[in-house]
Amino acid sequence: MFHTMTCWFQLLSLHLVLLNGAPGAGCPARCECAPQLRSVVCHRRRLTAIPEGIPTETRILELSRNRIRCLNPGDLAPYPLLEELDLSENIIAHVEPGAFGNLLHLQTLRLRGNQLKLIPPGVFTKLGNLTLLDLSENKLVILLDHMFQDLRNLKRLEVGDNDLVFISQRAFSGLLALEELTLERCNLTTLSGESLAHLQSLGALRLRYLGIPALEEHNFRRLPGLLHLEIDNWPLLEEVTASSLQGLNLSSLSVTYTNISAVPAAALRHLAYLTSLNLSYNPISTVPRGSFRDLVRLRELHLAGALLAVVEPQAFLGLRQIRLLNLSNNLLATLEESTFHSVNTLETLRVDGNPLACDCRLLWIVQRRKTLNFDGRLPSCATPAEVRGDALRDLPDSTLFEYFVCRKPKIRERRLQHVTATEGQAVSFFCRAEGEPEPSVTWVTPQHRVVTGASVGRARMLVGGTLEIREVQPQDSGTYVCVASNAGGNDTYFATLMVRPGANRTLGLGEAGELAAHNDTQSPRFPLDLTTILVSTAMGCITFLGVVLFCFLLLFVWSRGRGQHKSNFSVEYSFRKVDGPAAAAGQGGARKFNMKMI
Ligand SMILES: *[C@@H]1O[C@H](CO)[C@@H](O)[C@H](O)[C@H]1NC(C)=O
Ligand SMILES: *[C@@H]1O[C@H](CO)[C@@H](O)[C@H](O)[C@H]1NC(C)=O
Ligand SMILES: *[C@@H]1O[C@H](CO)[C@@H](O)[C@H](O)[C@H]1NC(C)=O
Ligand SMILES: *[C@@H]1O[C@H](CO)[C@@H](O)[C@H](O)[C@H]1NC(C)=O
Ligand SMILES: *[C@@H]1O[C@H](CO)[C@@H](O)[C@H](O)[C@H]1NC(C)=O
Ligand SMILES: *[C@@H]1O[C@H](CO)[C@@H](O)[C@H](O)[C@H]1NC(C)=O
Ligand SMILES: *[C@@H]1O[C@H](CO)[C@@H](O)[C@H](O)[C@H]1NC(C)=O
Ligand SMILES: *[C@@H]1O[C@H](CO)[C@@H](O)[C@H](O)[C@H]1NC(C)=O
Ligand SMILES: *[C@@H]1O[C@H](CO)[C@@H](O)[C@H](O)[C@H]1NC(C)=O
Repeated sequence: MFHTMTCWFQLLSLHLVLLNGAPGAGCPARCECAPQLRSVVCHRRRLTAIPEGIPTETRILELSRNRIRCLNPGDLAPYPLLEELDLSENIIAHVEPGAFGNLLHLQTLRLRGNQLKLIPPGVFTKLGNLTLLDLSENKLVILLDHMFQDLRNLKRLEVGDNDLVFISQRAFSGLLALEELTLERCNLTTLSGESLAHLQSLGALRLRYLGIPALEEHNFRRLPGLLHLEIDNWPLLEEVTASSLQGLNLSSLSVTYTNISAVPAAALRHLAYLTSLNLSYNPISTVPRGSFRDLVRLRELHLAGALLAVVEPQAFLGLRQIRLLNLSNNLLATLEESTFHSVNTLETLRVDGNPLACDCRLLWIVQRRKTLNFDGRLPSCATPAEVRGDALRDLPDSTLFEYFVCRKPKIRERRLQHVTATEGQAVSFFCRAEGEPEPSVTWVTPQHRVVTGASVGRARMLVGGTLEIREVQPQDSGTYVCVASNAGGNDTYFATLMVRPGANRTLGLGEAGELAAHNDTQSPRFPLDLTTILVSTAMGCITFLGVVLFCFLLLFVWSRGRGQHKSNFSVEYSFRKVDGPAAAAGQGGARKFNMKMI
């Protein structure tokens, strides 16, 4: 009750002031009136209450930047035709229920920049025509259930810059027409999907400067009409999970100034109607291949001020309609034509603020330098030194043949690398490549696995292109291919590895590497151990050599005895197979050798 009394007192003193001052014809003192607009403007007049003398038919009342402290029921009753009321930047701490009681025509109500801590239920009843309500920059801590219940025509609600810690589940109920909601600079730590689900007409949701650490699966699930979502300045957000944008059919999405370090490719996958995506100012270092591949309608992509160092080939695969690409202020040395689905749709390109290497990879930009729109920020070369700092657009044609060329990779030291190793040993293959720009080296294993920087099983590639295999196994045997490639082309090189089984292992197990899945029941198929095999092979060889020698001897004797006749010999020899059961039948074991004497 105390504040109500002070308000009456203020009103009383104002009366006195007004009586002393010259009362304008239908316009309060200290205010400016425009009768044809039916507006009364009392901006920054040190008013402590709503002034007397406002014409009854007033439509627009501007009372911003005064010293009004409270609004009581009946204060605005004399002006039932009000359509716009601006009470921004006063010191209003209390609004009594019924304060806006009869303002049936009110469309805009601004209470920004006051001291409101709590708005009791009933304050906004009957404001059925209100379309804009601005409650930002107050001290609201909680939005209570049903506090906006009657605002069925409200289109825009601003509740940013409050101390909001909690939005109750039915706070937004009744806001059937709300199209835009801005929540910013609050102390919210979660976002309740339940409360947002009441906003059936919501088209734009802006969530800025929030300490929310994660997006949950159901946050936006029941907002089918949402077209624009902005998540800006969420320093604690590290991931946009695959399911967090589920249920949305956005046309623009902005996730900026967060702590996400990867393109949220999985979360974007279903947004086939997205036309604009802004992922600027996140610590994203790589755009992997196909990151945006289902965004077939995307026209604008912004990834400015991130930490982008690599845009992989085909990173923009699927972006058939891209018009604007904004990669300014990153760490990119290049942007290859192969990253695009097609560069022909591109109209505006920002790659300024990157340490660009001017070689053949940027030739596509240079060739389009007269038609591409650089938005007034011309990209320039960081290397080679001769053109450092020169804008790509201004380079004369003569330099193109000098700098914008590439040298196909060449693998040095092409000596044969044929390595025979014993099981368990470590093996290295070298592959040093030169080229311009620096070629990237990969190794392909006999199992067609590609080894780059990271380890693949026991294999990994060291700096300088060396492939290292730890503890080789017999199944590692085969041909390894080194591929060095750059924008100028590629070069390949082969190396072979033969792995001997270790001495203390049986061949049965050694060869069973990939058969291990067939487990124990299969092992009786390999009954022989290494020694047996060695002995039988040796014996086989000796017998074979013996037969051959004997034949030669026979031939020698024959030729001596019979002169220079031409003759044919057929020698049949049966190998001893070590395959066990299959060989027992004797089929397939016989080989025929034909020897011809000339
Ligand atoms: C809302 O405003 C329109 C005119 O803009 C008026 O005709 C209508 O009566 C108003 N509705 C209410 C509930 O006052
Ligand atoms: C909200 O956060 C601000 C700054 O972090 C802090 O000063 C304020 O006390 C918090 N308010 C509440 C209600 O927690
Ligand atoms: C951002 O994430 C990194 C780890 O990815 C972490 O070290 C850093 O503290 C985070 N920053 C903030 C503001 O949370
Ligand atoms: C998504 O929105 C577009 C218009 O932006 C609309 O044409 C399309 O039907 C919507 N798809 C779904 C599944 O709602
Ligand atoms: C992208 O987000 C940044 C950071 O919020 C903003 O400055 C920039 O204007 C946005 N770009 C577009 C095209 O909206
Ligand atoms: C590119 O991004 C920067 C930083 O957000 C922004 O200032 C600039 O307006 C953007 N350029 C275009 C053409 O959108
Ligand atoms: C190597 O270059 C040839 C043509 O020059 C190309 O067909 C092939 O796909 C390239 N291979 C790799 C791995 O880049
Ligand atoms: C050979 O046997 C020793 C001792 O039994 C064992 O430590 C070693 O790993 C074995 N070598 C192979 C290649 O299995
Ligand atoms: C042996 O193989 C069968 C089927 O191939 C499998 O169900 C069983 O789990 C395996 N046993 C072991 C010990 O691996």
